[in-house]
Amino acid sequence: MDKKVFSGIQPTGRLHIGNLVGALDNWVKMQDEYQTIYNVVDLHAMTVPYDPAELQRTRLETARLLLAVGVDPSRSLLYFQSQVPQHAELTWILSTITGIGQMERMTQFKEKGEKSGQNIGLFSYPILMAADILVHRVHAVPVGDDQTQHLELTRDLAERFNSRFGETFPIPERITPEIGARVMSLQDPTAKMSKSDPSQASRIDLLDEPDTIRKKIRSSVTDSGREVSYDWENKAGISNLLELFSFFSGAGIDELEAEYSESGYGPFKEAVAEAIVDGLTPIRTRYKDLDEGEVGRIMEQNALQARTQAEASMQGVRAAVGLSPR
Ligand code: AMP
Ligand code: TRP
Repeated sequence: MDKKVFSGIQPTGRLHIGNLVGALDNWVKMQDEYQTIYNVVDLHAMTVPYDPAELQRTRLETARLLLAVGVDPSRSLLYFQSQVPQHAELTWILSTITGIGQMERMTQFKEKGEKSGQNIGLFSYPILMAADILVHRVHAVPVGDDQTQHLELTRDLAERFNSRFGETFPIPERITPEIGARVMSLQDPTAKMSKSDPSQASRIDLLDEPDTIRKKIRSSVTDSGREVSYDWENKAGISNLLELFSFFSGAGIDELEAEYSESGYGPFKEAVAEAIVDGLTPIRTRYKDLDEGEVGRIMEQNALQARTQAEASMQGVRAAVGLSPR
């Protein structure tokens, strides 16, 4: 258990099954083998226009959902990023070894900047993410496919820091699931399922009621054919549903393909919906049972412990760059 894991999730809107399949499922599983550290990355959420009262609410809601999904505070250090100022301090230090050209190639800045307006926080977002990971000197980072570029930058910065200032950071590995690293929108299987998609029907939130889930799967966009087969090129909508079905039922894609190939889309979609309903019901129940006051207390206690750990690590970093106390 001496290997460490870090990951984070933004408190913007509710979490959906893309988050669960692509990342959170691994967060939970990795608790068995690693020392796990997880963040609600509230500082990252400030890089797009937001309402302070809404942020206050969604960060607690996100923490509560993470606990409901199975992040276990007796095994994982779960806290709000903003509560551990060492993340921001390391961001500054890393920014001094980051090239502007490299940052300009980050696709997220271009995409989000076009949608919601550019600011320096959005530009340096990936450096803060690198600092989240490196401040705890972790070995592995469970994330969905969309974080690949950010992880590459993190590895790059760790290597650059080590060669300039001496061996300090391990080079972290990206951990993505084999199936479901990129869950697609139910309304447009060429776009990724996303919290910020204005269409509610494009995603299934972890707290959606069973009938809402059934309706969204029934109305999900598929092709005009009849055959259920796993073929991303010609049947992206069906392939996306097959991946979800496999995740929630535990059955292999081959098995499901064989069982439903002749059934037609209607009965197939019904079965997919029931598997998702069964998978999300325990999460919804646990969420309702969790007390917000208790969630807040857990977050505070963990932040305290995280500050101690991050501070110990930062003392080494400060010494390496020439900022020891005397
Ligand atoms: P975010 O919602 O952007 O904060 O992402 C939180 C985690 O969920 C990250 O590890 C993402 O890579 C992952 N994630 C987000 N959307 C998807 C998706 N559609 N499919 C798979 N993983 C996703
Ligand atoms: N950028 C990630 C996302 O949008 C969230 C994140 C912030 C993160 N810091 C991180 C993920 C550190 C993994 C490790 O999903």
